[in-house]
Amino acid sequence: MAKVALDGAAVLLTGASSGIGRELALVLADRGARLAIAARRRDRLDQLAQTVADKGQQRPKVIEADLAHRGAAQALAAEAEAELGPVEVLVNNAGGGVGGCQWAVGDADAARDAFEINYWSPLALVQALVPAMRERRSGAVVNVTSMSQVSTWPMFGAYAATKAALALATETLRLELERFGVHVVEVIPGPSRHRRRAPRDSCRGSSKRSMGGWERPLRRRSRR
Ligand SMILES: NC(=O)c1ccc[n+]([C@@H]2O[C@H](COP(=O)([O-])OP(=O)(O)OC[C@H]3O[C@@H](n4cnc5c(N)ncnc54)[C@H](OP(=O)(O)O)[C@@H]3O)[C@@H](O)[C@H]2O)c1
Repeated sequence: MAKVALDGAAVLLTGASSGIGRELALVLADRGARLAIAARRRDRLDQLAQTVADKGQQRPKVIEADLAHRGAAQALAAEAEAELGPVEVLVNNAGGGVGGCQWAVGDADAARDAFEINYWSPLALVQALVPAMRERRSGAVVNVTSMSQVSTWPMFGAYAATKAALALATETLRLELERFGVHVVEVIPGPSRHRRRAPRDSCRGSSKRSMGGWERPLRRRSRR
């Protein structure tokens, strides 16, 4: 399969206000991509856009979006296309969710929100943008999942389930789209350094705190 040319390509990147998404935005801009960057924290997106512009690269379009709300992804896709024209690369990187023991979290609003952010919103963006890619017989979808989909641990069950669901959907998309010249890529990060460790006692209930602070190293501690 041919590589996707990034120079001049219109890229919609979610979750660009921090962490992996911010770094990815800088790399994509370096490679000449025309970016639309999305997240809730507009101030951080504006700072990132300025950083890119200061390097003489094309200033990313900033779009504020809360992907925990149903319908926000469709609105984001429309705004990105209004700003950039047809989106050629969609990067579903935004991730959030809920910590806490599975039995305590249950189907709390925060757990349902996690599915909206990590599963339904990426798929809504796919639904909005992929038909045109398929028509053009080019384009790419990059979904960021997590190692937690195959190796979960206490207090991460609700989050891990969202990533496992997205992973399966990603594989299905890949099978469906490979004949149409649309690349589908799953990125499966392990823990990164900017993440803090999970709290020791989170079994009292769910927490709406961002999963940004909750992933912890996959290596297991040896038993004494
Ligand atoms: N770092 C790791 O250890 C690790 C491991 C495995 C998988 N991952 C996955 O990698 C991706 C990036 O994570 P990261 O480590 O870079 O975390 P991060 O620094 O917390 O970044 C998460 C990004 O998602 C955005 N986001 C969260 N909730 C959102 C919402 N409701 N609406 C719109 N945007 C939202 C955040 O922006 P705002 O808060 O400004 O909205 C932020 O830009 C996520 O999908 C995560 O699950 C990370």
